[in-house]
Amino acid sequence: MNKITFTRPDDMHLHLRDGEQMQAVLLDSARRFARAIVMPNLELPIVTTELALAYSSRISSALVEKTGMEFEPLMTLYLTDNTKCSEIRKAKSSGVVYGVKFYPAGATTYSDTGVTDITKCFHVLEVMEQEKVPLLVHGEINDPRIDIFDKEKIFIDRVLTTIVRNFPNLRIVFEHITTKEAVEFVKGAANNIGATITAHHLLFNRNAIFQGGIRPHYYCLPVLKQEAHRLALIEAAISGDPKFFLGTDSAPHSKNSKESTCGCAGIYTSHAAIELYAEIFEQADSLGKLEGFASFFGADFYGLPRNREHITLIKESWEVPMQFDFAGEALVPLRAGENMVWKILD
Ligand code: DOR
Ligand code: ZN
Repeated sequence: MNKITFTRPDDMHLHLRDGEQMQAVLLDSARRFARAIVMPNLELPIVTTELALAYSSRISSALVEKTGMEFEPLMTLYLTDNTKCSEIRKAKSSGVVYGVKFYPAGATTYSDTGVTDITKCFHVLEVMEQEKVPLLVHGEINDPRIDIFDKEKIFIDRVLTTIVRNFPNLRIVFEHITTKEAVEFVKGAANNIGATITAHHLLFNRNAIFQGGIRPHYYCLPVLKQEAHRLALIEAAISGDPKFFLGTDSAPHSKNSKESTCGCAGIYTSHAAIELYAEIFEQADSLGKLEGFASFFGADFYGLPRNREHITLIKESWEVPMQFDFAGEALVPLRAGENMVWKILD
């Protein structure tokens, strides 16, 4: 097949950053996606509805200035030990907040003010369950004694199962799943539990981080896993099971902060996101399953109308630039200097 047209997709997990950095990356998402669930882990986390509203209008004005494109940011709140139940109700009635993100404190980028112990938030989860506000979960245990490759699996056993047991009707998105254990957990769970899968976890196993030397641009959290896990993720993505949907977790960091003695976690994929997924689905002989995964299941999970517009991808090789401008610094995208197989038509 040399050309595919399908419903415009949504990115159900995106880091847009703020200010000039946000302006530098926004167009890449707006070109491809109709909407995105925007992560709240800014330097000053989005802990209130008021902050979410202000962030949303910064994104919208940047869109008008830069592109004139239509793209709807779906905002989220950042859960802390101190989040109040009243804040959840406010978020719900605002109509602009679509989920609350649970970062275990210290688990990843800008997660220092995350949750130290989820039982401290149980009163908040109760309100979220009642109000049908989804909990978006960074599923890694933040215990430094646990091996980094086991952090997701152990999070399921120690934290996620406890949440599900206590709040069986809470809507939960298990974000950027990376293991076969996570796939099994989600498959076996009730329909109020879904999961996002990134392009990079579908494309690479952990060897990519160490191929001929240390490769910081393949470092993200949760870290890439072994091949068996990658294969389980592909199975889930192409299965047609509506519990699994697209979330890029595209997470831009400057070249300097990645290529450093303590490099930041995050892989930038927004510049070629849907094209990368198309490549993966085609390789798995499942292009026909891409539209459900990319354009329907996420919207359905969040109770949003499915998009009406369409996008077209053609089979045409193009080279990904070595870097982009990132507010005066450089941003190295995934596949920098290498070729893509699919190209989006504007
Ligand atoms: O690789 C990651 N980058 N994982 C995360 O959880 C956060 C993200 C970021 O914000 O840079
Ligand atoms: Zn993320």
